[in-house]
Amino acid sequence: MASVKKQETILVVGGAGYIGSHMVLLLIRRDYHVVVLDDLSSGHQQAVDPAAELIIGDMADAAILQDIFNRHNISAVMHFAAFMLIDVSVANPSEYYQNNVFKTLFLLDQMRTAGINYFIFSSTAAVFGESHYLPIDNAHPKNPVNPYGSSKLMVERILADYARAYGMRYAVLRYFNACGADPQGRIGELHDPETHLIPVALQAAAGRREHFFIFGNDYDTEDGTCRRDYIHVCDLADAHLLALEKIKHEAGNVSYNLGNGNGFTVQQVVDTVKQVTGCDFIVQQQARRAGDPAALIADASNAQNELGWKPNYQDLTTIIQHAWQWEQSRVFRL
Ligand code: UFG
Repeated sequence: MASVKKQETILVVGGAGYIGSHMVLLLIRRDYHVVVLDDLSSGHQQAVDPAAELIIGDMADAAILQDIFNRHNISAVMHFAAFMLIDVSVANPSEYYQNNVFKTLFLLDQMRTAGINYFIFSSTAAVFGESHYLPIDNAHPKNPVNPYGSSKLMVERILADYARAYGMRYAVLRYFNACGADPQGRIGELHDPETHLIPVALQAAAGRREHFFIFGNDYDTEDGTCRRDYIHVCDLADAHLLALEKIKHEAGNVSYNLGNGNGFTVQQVVDTVKQVTGCDFIVQQQARRAGDPAALIADASNAQNELGWKPNYQDLTTIIQHAWQWEQSRVFRL
């Protein structure tokens, strides 16, 4: 039976990137009309579902935004476009504040002028800085330890002020470690350079890298390697849609931590990568990477209770199987 076409059009800023492109797939599957704005500085044109309209350009280009807002009846903006390398943010904070804060502010003001009120924002566990307790809930102190985390927290605060002053409606979604790939293998994670644990380990398994390094084995964790909360990118996309529906139909704005609540250490991830791929690779121990907290685990109970969100892919093996399927058969490459 043909589904009823929704009238709504969503603008996905950064929809050619890793998480944004999975969001676009979900929106299209749910019969939304989707416009993607992406400058392709780190995203990939081929990652955007052809059913979406892709506009290549800067999110702080007034003419582009006005053209989008004039041509489409945009009901909400989902914002995924950000720089996200922690060490680069430390070395070049200006770039991070310009891109992640200033351009977001510009986008929000253009939305205001156009009368678009709903905004879904990609935030991060990095807003919390060092963990004082685990799992990390909404009330946990927010003291980012790098400009990347600060840039995201600044936007969270801007949103609260815009909500009070202008009635903007928003959802802040703080991702822990996004991972996995579309289960059908159409899209997946593809950064250049790639720094994230699972894709780096899979590239080592595939023979695309000679070395795999574990950054630090003297942390206060069960095996000495860092513990993280790996959350499937499709589960993240589900939470965005639920959050949008909530702020559209209920009063108030929301902020949620998104994770599985299960931690896995770097060593456990490496062991699972070897199991799933059936490929062995050389693992070398290296010094700690600057700025890595020992453990980050989400308390996502607010998202579960208030959105009815339940991650579908909590099992690390499944997450890595999806990422491996993508790594082996990527239809587009850099
Ligand atoms: N790691 C290795 N070897 C590698 C790559 C990573 O040992 O080759 C380790 C890291 O040191 C860390 C863990 O694997 O202990 C996870 O590292 P990732 O780079 O995959 O992810 P992070 O936890 O550093 O960062 C993620 C997001 C950030 C976000 C942060 C929030 O990628 O955008 O979580 O804390 F800001």
